[in-house]
Amino acid sequence: SIKSLLAESPNLTSIPSTYIFTQNIHDDHHHHLQASVLEHPADQEQIPIIDFSLLTSSDPLQRSKAIKDLGKACEDWGFFMVINHGVAEELMDAIMEACRGFFNLSEEEKKEFEGKRMLDPIRCGTSFNPSLEKVFFWRDFLKVFVHPQFHSPSKPPAFSEACLEYCKKSQEVTQLLLEGISESLGLEPNYITKAMNLELGSQMLAANLYPPCPQPELAMGMPPHSDLGLLTTLIQNGIDGLQVQHNGNWVNINVIPNSILFNIGDHLEILSNGKYKSVLHRAVVNNKETRMSIAIANGPALEAFVSPAPKLVEHENHPQAYIGMKYKDYYQLQQSSKLDGKSCLDRL
Ligand code: SIN
Ligand code: FE2
Repeated sequence: SIKSLLAESPNLTSIPSTYIFTQNIHDDHHHHLQASVLEHPADQEQIPIIDFSLLTSSDPLQRSKAIKDLGKACEDWGFFMVINHGVAEELMDAIMEACRGFFNLSEEEKKEFEGKRMLDPIRCGTSFNPSLEKVFFWRDFLKVFVHPQFHSPSKPPAFSEACLEYCKKSQEVTQLLLEGISESLGLEPNYITKAMNLELGSQMLAANLYPPCPQPELAMGMPPHSDLGLLTTLIQNGIDGLQVQHNGNWVNINVIPNSILFNIGDHLEILSNGKYKSVLHRAVVNNKETRMSIAIANGPALEAFVSPAPKLVEHENHPQAYIGMKYKDYYQLQQSSKLDGKSCLDRL
């Protein structure tokens, strides 16, 4: 295992061989690694933008159009950028600064928050699962369970308040989006909330730090993967690096400042019986600036059993495509495996 986190590493001029990702492309059986990158996607290749204020509009026509657009974004992309969401810019800045403060703690201070087991409420580390990985990712992380019980590292001192406030506010947006998504599937607006027992929903905040990398083309911040849970919330520190797979290409996501990205997770794919797919994405690194991103994986209650909504299963046209599974079991499987495409979902 590696002792120090990337945040601690001195200014390197080349990357250690354990971080060279590209050498594995050719002996890898995963075609998704070989997809080409669309550097300048055409207009129709741009990630959909959802205006949240239309979704909460009191005008029923505007609202139903917004729900239709939301459903289309879920079906075509599985990723969308939300504007006019009402989460204050100051709050987004505050949580970003708090996470930066955490990564800036000394190695000794961070040790306290390393965590030992998968379900420990606070864990920090590097790569994804260094004990299993042959190639490490150019990334440090902090993972904190923020719901149904709120946890927070005790350092830096401002972390807890910023985290609680940001999670609360972004959760309001997520909740309304999930209601809109339920409707877009032809289900009752509160179907997902009830079936997944979201009152006890498991929310995990994952902060990612990608320091400048001297040879960015050789390394990977996060390899291609899909997210667990229903819907992931993602913000970043103004530095791009996210790529989403769309029609067989990797599309660079140019994030509108202060927007929030959302993407479909494996469990919404299961619940929708495959109508909405969780989408492969990855994070690339750069040699100039430190990139940070903060995701919240919004999942079902750990004890909830996730299976396709009966209304979306038709024996002839849409047979049940996934067996069900307890969210907790899936969570433990995913976090203790290698991060590798959609390998966890493929096992269902
Ligand atoms: C993630 O997929 O969890 C992180 C993506 C990013 O850093 O943009
Ligand atoms: Fe992700």
